[in-house]
Amino acid sequence: MNRIFSGIQPTGNLHLGNYLGAIRNWVRLQSDYDCIFCMVDMHAITVWQDPKELVSSTREVAAAVLAAGVDPKASIVFVQSQVPGHAQLAWVFNCVARLGWLNRMTQFKDKAGKNRENASVGLFAYPNLMAADILLYKATHVPVGEDQKQHLELSRDIAQKFNNDFGVDLLPIVEPLIFGPATRVMSLRDGTKKMSKSDPSDKSRINMIDDADAIALKIRKAKTDPHLLPETPEGFDGRPEAANLMGIYAALADMAIEDVCARFGGWQFSKFKGELADLAVEKLSLIGTECIRLHNDPGYVDGVLRDGAARASAIAEPILREIYDAVGFLRP
Ligand code: TYM
Repeated sequence: MNRIFSGIQPTGNLHLGNYLGAIRNWVRLQSDYDCIFCMVDMHAITVWQDPKELVSSTREVAAAVLAAGVDPKASIVFVQSQVPGHAQLAWVFNCVARLGWLNRMTQFKDKAGKNRENASVGLFAYPNLMAADILLYKATHVPVGEDQKQHLELSRDIAQKFNNDFGVDLLPIVEPLIFGPATRVMSLRDGTKKMSKSDPSDKSRINMIDDADAIALKIRKAKTDPHLLPETPEGFDGRPEAANLMGIYAALADMAIEDVCARFGGWQFSKFKGELADLAVEKLSLIGTECIRLHNDPGYVDGVLRDGAARASAIAEPILREIYDAVGFLRP
């Protein structure tokens, strides 16, 4: 059976982009694949995290993943720092990946900004840890949003170079799974910017724990343009807000974007927003309530994560040993 691995940073403010771009697809894949889902706290600390908040948001994000319908019996759900193989393999990959490859990563450039000299070394090496996450389980498929595509290409390059350098056929060349009409959900305040946890404006995103009133209000206030909605996707040219809101509708309703345009083309934004708000509330508010219920039961969530870490380690340890043997590390 093919194996899926995917990860999410436990930094709070999980939003509609995380849900439509990733978590919802995780739920759908778990019946057909052997799935491993990880709260990547070691990735989170590549930028400063308050320690107490990190503990709490790790539980919160795990709760959201479970609330969205990931079944911790069918799939493995765990926290990255509880399985030491991630850090161990990342070191090997730090020695396989080339500086030139990492220099090309657009996410590093975006996150480090102008103050590059002051960015952590971890932020620069982040994609190597991501490759380690996936290859520690020899995962073959990785469901993510569009923004992670470049990192997955790097994982492929690392696997290929490792296999070549050591003359083995050990690491798989992973396939990204980027699907659905919402692979890149944009900010509600600016249709040219990605919806993001780190946007200072809470109005820019729909959080998974927003209640019905907050969801409806944010959609009502979402940025628009002065024209009527387009009747075909060709009409999205130069109209990022229309593309985003209609794309969100298509994803939530499980409809093709063409059908959404056919249905709402020629409508005023204001009337369409009413329909979108009703749909978003219907699809999201139950998940939000379940999220809050689980977050208030930390014993249960911690237990799921502990069990997940044990099962993940059982898969990872023999694979790490194979990799160490290939590298030439003396067995204890
Ligand atoms: P993270 O935590 O930023 O995001 C988690 C998932 O949500 C997707 N996503 C979006 N999809 C659509 N529209 C958006 N606006 C949007 N924002 C986020 C992301 O593509 C991702 O799938 N580096 C990863 C975490 C990671 C990982 C891995 C993923 C670490 N190791 C191994 C896959 C495999 C990240 O920062 O995701």
